[in-house]
Amino acid sequence: MSDSAFAYSPSPYRYVARFRDGAWEEGFLSDDPNIVLNESACVLQYAQNVFEGLKARRTSDGRIITFRPDMNAARLKESCRRMAMPEYPEDLFLRAVDDVVRANADVIPPYGDGSSFYLRPFMIGTDPVLGVKPATEYEFRIFGSPVGKYFSRMIKLRVCDLDRVAPHGTGHVKAGLNYAMSLYAITEAHALGYDENLYLDAATRTYVEETGGANIFFITKDGKLVTPRSDTILPSITRDSVIKVASSYLGIEAEERPIAMDEIADFAECGLCGTAAVISPVESIDDHGSILTYFRGIPQEESVTQRIKNVLTEIQQGDRPAPEGWIREVRLDN
Ligand SMILES: Cc1ncc(COP(=O)(O)O)c(C=O)c1O
Repeated sequence: MSDSAFAYSPSPYRYVARFRDGAWEEGFLSDDPNIVLNESACVLQYAQNVFEGLKARRTSDGRIITFRPDMNAARLKESCRRMAMPEYPEDLFLRAVDDVVRANADVIPPYGDGSSFYLRPFMIGTDPVLGVKPATEYEFRIFGSPVGKYFSRMIKLRVCDLDRVAPHGTGHVKAGLNYAMSLYAITEAHALGYDENLYLDAATRTYVEETGGANIFFITKDGKLVTPRSDTILPSITRDSVIKVASSYLGIEAEERPIAMDEIADFAECGLCGTAAVISPVESIDDHGSILTYFRGIPQEESVTQRIKNVLTEIQQGDRPAPEGWIREVRLDN
């Protein structure tokens, strides 16, 4: 079950920018966590919203850094395009992230205790619509919340049969409505004792896609990393980083390719990756009553998954040199 440590806890300031008359107005920091909306606002009636997720962390010498925020800015633009919303410029996005981090520096958790400051950029269509069409006015916001672990134990997955739920099917779009469609499935999974759903491809239901809130990867018996190639999963920034960490830092061969359900019993390790999940080992996958287990006879500390997690975590908290452009320091004296 998800740990309650990954939960909303309002921080003092959030960023707000409004789109009116075809242009973005100057953004500002607000101490009000509430939004007042018209009852017919497009976001309420037709779920016109998109969002992102990234983390800020403290380094051992007290600085604050964010991890690849440019990737979130770019992905948000893609989501906006697909949801007929105006794009939020990438340079303004990065500046807004910095502003929110800086304004909330007092509530950003200390280095090394496993917690971090989760940032949630999002955009909503705010003006009233009744016919089915996009809004003409929008709000872009970023709030932050100190968070702990998303998963508190090794993960138990089940293959989910509920059709076209979760962030699948709309390809690469991080929109609230996709997640709304997965709420029934996650509630059912939790009630049955699973931590997450594993979704298969919609067309043939024979290939692995991802889970409700994270991408998935496997380690083969000869120590290679494999992760699904698919147009209908969210392109995870963590996964992209995992692939690079495995190949460039650890010399592990990494392959992105379609992964058939038929072959997953042969893998030695399985893990989830995402901003919230970081890297979380998967203990088992229940495929219609047949239980596949991972890390059999492999002590967690010696696993390939753990080796990748260690390096990624060191990079993310500023303990190890990162590839060019991965770490953005938020200067507190600005
Ligand atoms: C459905 C889904 N897939 C994958 C991810 C992981 O993406 P990222 O590593 O960019 O956080 C997330 C969440 O963050 C997600 O919600």
